[in-house]
Amino acid sequence: MAISLRLQRLGSGVFERNDKRKEIYRSNLKNKPQPLVDLSLGSTDLAPPEVVLDVIESSLRRAESSSYSLHSSTKPFREAVSEWCEFRLGVDVDPDREVLFLVGSQEGTAHLPLAVMNSGETGLVLDPSYPSHLGGMVLADAHVERLVLNPSNNWRPDFQSLTNSQLEQLRMMIFGFPHNPTAQVGKQCWLDEAMELGLRNDFVVAHDNPYVDLALEGEAPVLLRSPGWRESGIEFFSFSKGWCLGGFRLGFAVGAASLIKALKELKGVVDFNQSLALQHGAIAALKTSPDWSMMNLDIYRDRRDRVLAVFKKHGWEFLPPSMALYLWLPLPERAKQQGIDDESFASALLEKTGVALTPGSGFGSAGSGWLRLALVRPACELEVATGRVANWFNEFR
Ligand SMILES: Cc1ncc(COP(=O)(O)O)c(C=O)c1O
Repeated sequence: MAISLRLQRLGSGVFERNDKRKEIYRSNLKNKPQPLVDLSLGSTDLAPPEVVLDVIESSLRRAESSSYSLHSSTKPFREAVSEWCEFRLGVDVDPDREVLFLVGSQEGTAHLPLAVMNSGETGLVLDPSYPSHLGGMVLADAHVERLVLNPSNNWRPDFQSLTNSQLEQLRMMIFGFPHNPTAQVGKQCWLDEAMELGLRNDFVVAHDNPYVDLALEGEAPVLLRSPGWRESGIEFFSFSKGWCLGGFRLGFAVGAASLIKALKELKGVVDFNQSLALQHGAIAALKTSPDWSMMNLDIYRDRRDRVLAVFKKHGWEFLPPSMALYLWLPLPERAKQQGIDDESFASALLEKTGVALTPGSGFGSAGSGWLRLALVRPACELEVATGRVANWFNEFR
């Protein structure tokens, strides 16, 4: 059976390829010297707030939790988001017109282009960037331009490099800081600049911000603090990272009323909202544990520093990232000189050491030659795994 051209254009995703690699490793575990240590996914091992789980558990058996939840029934959730925006971001938002419940921020970012772009219109993504940014545009049959990030520029998006004619063509730009995969927190002035360009050139500015509470250095930028977002800006937030609730698939968007309305209508065709039991849990997270991630930042900082120390002991020195969840590591130069790319390096690394990392090219061609390591295991396990990775790096000295 033929599949659509847009799916062919998408190709297999980086996490699907990772999954296949890990499945092969697991299926042959008997012959492997090491158990699998999966550092390929940004899915934390840290616990969500106990109160959130209690609320979900106690709501599960209520009849209403098994029913479809239409938009109007998400009102308590939207009101809690509005209070959180005031408390956490100092921004006043209208829960009726400016907030939308999502099945995770990935779902929202992937659906937004379908809601605001016509086929063939131009969208801009960063390279490298989270796969749903490009994926959503491909599903919407958009023409995609890439703004390449550069290590020499400390991965800063150089919006000045966009020509006037490029800017005039744009219908939508999507990006996100703190940035996955480069683990840079980013700066508020970058978002201000993007929003200003969006207003001047009449394009939608979408900012994906699941890591808003995971800055280890500095403060995470927020689009809702950039002047003009109410006209054509939208920001995506998640319960997956700060609140450690990834498997529950909970997120939300806050943005210009027209964009929220468009995304709501699009989603009306695609899905219903998550169960009210999960919404109650999300409300509890917003209200009772808005600073949950603050306790975890010291844990991530300790993990980051101990992993970097192990690399250093083996002769590999890397700059510490400013956001919590990832390290973004260049392949050894010798491996590159031998023509080994990040995909084959990650495969060989898994095979030899049992440690799964994500190849950077899965986030775009500017990620080629890089690997992403997620700090999602306890520090002592990470130290052992890093020792094995560093030994494998030493094969390319
Ligand atoms: C930039 C970015 N956006 C979205 C997501 C997915 O978030 P959610 O679980 O809310 O869909 C991730 C997950 O790693 C991410 O890095």
